Amino acid sequence: MSKQNFYVTTPIYYVNDKPHIGHSYTTILADVLARGHRLLGVDSFFLTGTDEHGLKVQQAAQKLNRSPIEHCDETVKRFQELWAKLGITYDYFIRTTEERHKKVVQEILQDLYDRDLIYAANYEGWYCVPCERFFTEKDLVDGKCPDCQRAVESLVEKNYFFKMSQYQQRLIDYINEHPDFIQPSHRRQETLGFLQKPLGDLCISRPKARLAWGIDLPFDKDYVTYVWFDALVNYISGVGYRTDEANFRRWWPASYHLIGKDILTTHTVYWPCMLMALELELPKTVFAHGWWLTQGAKMSKTAMQGQTAQERPSNPMDMIDKYGVDALRYYLMSAMSLGQDTEFSEEAFILKFNSELANDLGNLCSRTVKMLEKNFDSVLPPANEPGADEAALVAACQNAVAAMRCGIEHMQLDRGIAEVIAAVREGNRYFDAQKPWILVKEGKLEQLGSVLRHTAECLRIVSGLLYPVMPEKMLQLRRQLGVEEKKLVPNMDKLSQWNCLTAGVKLPCLEAPIFPRIEVKKEKPAAQVREKPQKASAPQPAAIAPNVIGIEDFAKLNLRTAEVISAERVPEADKLLCLQVRIGDEERQIVAGIAEFYKPEELPGKLIVIVANLKPRELRGLVSQGMLLAAKQGKKLSLITCDQPFVSGASVG
Ligand code: ME8
Ligand code: MG
Repeated sequence: MSKQNFYVTTPIYYVNDKPHIGHSYTTILADVLARGHRLLGVDSFFLTGTDEHGLKVQQAAQKLNRSPIEHCDETVKRFQELWAKLGITYDYFIRTTEERHKKVVQEILQDLYDRDLIYAANYEGWYCVPCERFFTEKDLVDGKCPDCQRAVESLVEKNYFFKMSQYQQRLIDYINEHPDFIQPSHRRQETLGFLQKPLGDLCISRPKARLAWGIDLPFDKDYVTYVWFDALVNYISGVGYRTDEANFRRWWPASYHLIGKDILTTHTVYWPCMLMALELELPKTVFAHGWWLTQGAKMSKTAMQGQTAQERPSNPMDMIDKYGVDALRYYLMSAMSLGQDTEFSEEAFILKFNSELANDLGNLCSRTVKMLEKNFDSVLPPANEPGADEAALVAACQNAVAAMRCGIEHMQLDRGIAEVIAAVREGNRYFDAQKPWILVKEGKLEQLGSVLRHTAECLRIVSGLLYPVMPEKMLQLRRQLGVEEKKLVPNMDKLSQWNCLTAGVKLPCLEAPIFPRIEVKKEKPAAQVREKPQKASAPQPAAIAPNVIGIEDFAKLNLRTAEVISAERVPEADKLLCLQVRIGDEERQIVAGIAEFYKPEELPGKLIVIVANLKPRELRGLVSQGMLLAAKQGKKLSLITCDQPFVSGASVG
């Protein structure tokens, strides 16, 4: 791809709806990608907006006794205010009722009409008089109105059609030749499947008698254009197509149209055919992400309206006020594997927050800053070149930089974020291994300064990498590390270097932890927390482990791989087996309660995982020097093993 610029869009949302978590998700995703590309030094343009024409808006306005545009002017604010609250940095917010957009839609219609790509024909369908709605044969349910189930009348009316059918083969060829055009690949298959049936022409008009709230057809004033022909054009009118050619050429073709899978056909069939008719390039990628689910069903406005507080799933929108915008952004970006459906749960949110943000990142920040305060009066000590002790830390940070770059460029944000958190964990491990509290006791201040400088460097890199996801909190962290105001917004070049903080700078006091732990109230009965019909076999982590431990607690465990040499039953103990295992070049005996699940002869040769530093204890007169790890599910038990051939004695963690 020769063009470096990055242009990302979201669907333009129906202005009549109240924005919910689904809209927020796509918009935050676009924002993280736009900010991510700015971090990489790539020029970017981010377009979002609202879809304002159509029958629903017309009817809602009528009910409220106001004009459709007055209604839109009111309801659009709900989106704009929410985006401001969520820190969305769009470059332009397009409304389909704005003059520039309407003009472009009309010019396109006229152009296609002049070139005989739009024609008039009779449209046969069914009309529901009480609902004032028109349906095609396949919309009907048992031959009746799908909305009110009353009888419908057959109706023939004149309408205008776009000759979409003639692009079918060209589109199939294009999709086959451009594997990146529709992502993820299962969505590409879905579109190709759809294109196996003959493609019809697209009805693009509605008579004004039935729908007045739309853009007039320039060649027939009795008609308006129907939603998709209006809405899809936003992606080009919003960057200046036919009104600002230089700007248009700068951004088109779009890098990504982000959409939910509900609007796949319109974006991967209608829209490319329209662009082909206009002789414009197709967007590089249409990316259809999965659903946020609640109790197994797609989250929507209606899904959030349970009868009682207990029936209502936790509303993610309330979580903004409860836990902060950045925490919600972090959860949405790190918990969804792009392209897949994901269950939204407050419990999983809290678990993720407490472990990754409070315990890992927050802890590394507060222990570094506090020690600098106590021992160096908050003045940043000079830097040392990293040595052998720092090798793992530097490598983890470099790995995080590469993973985040890849995450931003290839839509794998969850993986990028996971590597950043891995670098934070390495920072904490390094801190523990260096035992700075002992350096204090022994008065080794220079060495102490160096250790803290290195953890601070790790934090600087992390704060830059997570900036696109949590802009506010990461700016706060960067200020805390003494980064100059003019360098607060990070860039990737600096993040791939070590020792960029300025020695001698006085750091601000840490007033409060950057991510204070969320205390879990125990009111909810556990059974309710566990009831997740979609994932019965994979319980939510929060339900299992409400008591989060710190990395320092975990670090106390010495987990090792061990090879089973032999195993035999323990006389007069039905449940026990006595195992001889090898851990590197050491041999040990472990007595374990697994006789009901494994026969002794099944075990030799297996590479299992054991807790190697458990105090030896006696069971039925036999000494057990350690404990093996196993997963339990109801009456089943499975030993934890390695999925690759490995040596015994390898550390696990
Ligand atoms: O379809 N999970 O607008 P719309 C994830 N105006 N994303 C979700 C979601 C969920 N549970 N629910 C909604 C329209 N979304 C048209 C688009 S574009 C030219 C015209 C997101 O208000 C997702 O991005 O119904 C989905 O595609 C979009 O909201 C639909 O928004
Ligand atoms: Mg919708």
